[in-house]
Amino acid sequence: MKKNKLVSKRKGIVLAGGSGTRLYPNTLALSKQLIPIYDKPLIYYPLSILMLANIKDILLISTQKDITNFQYLLGDGKNFGLSISYAVQDRPEGIAQAFLIGENFINNNNSALILGDNIFYGSGLEKVLSAASDKPEEATIFGYPVENPHRFGVASVNNGKVTSIVEKPKITASNIAVTGLYFFDNNACSKAKELAPSKRGELEITDLNLSYLKDSRLNIHLFGRGFAWFDTGTPEALVDASVFIRTIEQRQGLKICCPEEIAWKKGWIDDDKLQSLANNFQNNSYGQYLEKLLKEKF
Ligand code: TTP
Repeated sequence: MKKNKLVSKRKGIVLAGGSGTRLYPNTLALSKQLIPIYDKPLIYYPLSILMLANIKDILLISTQKDITNFQYLLGDGKNFGLSISYAVQDRPEGIAQAFLIGENFINNNNSALILGDNIFYGSGLEKVLSAASDKPEEATIFGYPVENPHRFGVASVNNGKVTSIVEKPKITASNIAVTGLYFFDNNACSKAKELAPSKRGELEITDLNLSYLKDSRLNIHLFGRGFAWFDTGTPEALVDASVFIRTIEQRQGLKICCPEEIAWKKGWIDDDKLQSLANNFQNNSYGQYLEKLLKEKF
């Protein structure tokens, strides 16, 4: 099988803190990003997206309470051919705070940030990610049409260009939500340092995006109808995402966002490693799927 050993120098951050209050009592003892979405923990989905973007060096940011559980689940990342390091966000003081916490990790490189509760699925996604990654001196955000845009950062777009973004507007200028995936050049940390907290006391990712817009260096990719994006903040959204993943996986016999499979297909782990990972789950369909990959080499 053809293995793609491409690796990006871009650093990846998964922001998996927050309080998950909309999911209480589910999230009183357990991080939202560790709740299962059908057959795997939620965090596997955003982690897989960074992997599909060929990003191997990843910082996972979570709360003091939850970080050890993530370390137990993901370790140093070697099982997935990754290098995963960890940092704590003491309080949920905004998504852009990831660039203050992650400044040493990013070390003046380009970066991609993904929220730990975001799921992306659709044909051609890897190409879209490469295109964003191949713009080293610009930022790229991703828009998705939604029924209820007032809950999100809302982008106005004209001729493929962003003209404005407003965070959680009461009156919305468009139905395009800004999703929780952001590619930045190597100025993200210095720009984040210049941001002032918003009225709700957070360093807003919308303000960081607006700073790139001001410099005319903000691109947007609009996902179309044939694409699925979930942010799994409510009980309803968790169930919707689980049912969606189960439906596609059972129909095709292929898993969505299985990090072991992505790492193996990219040549980041070898057959022996995949076999040993399959052995860990011999008695369930996840392990049998990994075993099947080795046998069928599809
Ligand atoms: P939110 O859904 O805005 O917040 P939350 O997860 O705390 O949930 P709730 O609103 O129910 O209390 O966060 C979106 C994602 O970003 C989620 O994965 C948590 C993460 N996040 C952080 O890790 N730190 C932060 O400071 C913020 C604002 C969000």
